[in-house]
Amino acid sequence: MNIVFASHNAHKRAEVEAIMAAIWPDVHLIAPSGDAPDETGDTFEENALIKARAGHAATGLPTIADDSGICVDALGGDPGVRSARYSPSGEDRDNLELLLANVGESDERSAHFVCAVAFVADGEEHVLERSWHGSIATSPAGSGGFGYDPIFIPEGTSVTAAELAPEEKSAVSHRGQAFRALADFLRVWQGE
Ligand code: IMP
Repeated sequence: MNIVFASHNAHKRAEVEAIMAAIWPDVHLIAPSGDAPDETGDTFEENALIKARAGHAATGLPTIADDSGICVDALGGDPGVRSARYSPSGEDRDNLELLLANVGESDERSAHFVCAVAFVADGEEHVLERSWHGSIATSPAGSGGFGYDPIFIPEGTSVTAAELAPEEKSAVSHRGQAFRALADFLRVWQGE
């Protein structure tokens, strides 16, 4: 089955391609064409739907898209849906340094990643969401992953997400959980 994966983020594409290849090799993810739509939603679910609807409108094919980010308790849930553009440059390193500076010396360091995945096909829309809980490190560590991984310590570990192997991260991450749940849904949807 060919499904459009409407994402322009190369790191996310690589993670999702590896997750889907491991659980459902018959699904081929196709890159979207055209510009990414503006993410104008206030929630991860809304933004995932905006991206999936745009991909479906452009291709006519069943389309999946995700929207994700990190929610930090000490910052009232920020940066949330604005995670990719938290700092003025929007660069990963600037984003995480701004987040570290804003959390400062606070003892309250709880945080969680969220991933909403939307599936849009003819006359059909489906969204699901999964979270990954942990805490904010006091300084960055590790070179794997992307985004805020070097400052996120997943629950049950003492290392950052950037110090996990890719398959270790996907086994527990918000994105891994969401795409495995999506694959379960799609198997039923296509009548397997
Ligand atoms: P999106 O492309 O709008 O979903 O932006 C997601 C942003 O949230 C990314 O650019 C990262 O800053 C952050 N993010 C989402 N998932 C992860 C992750 O697995 N690790 C680290 N940062 C992430």
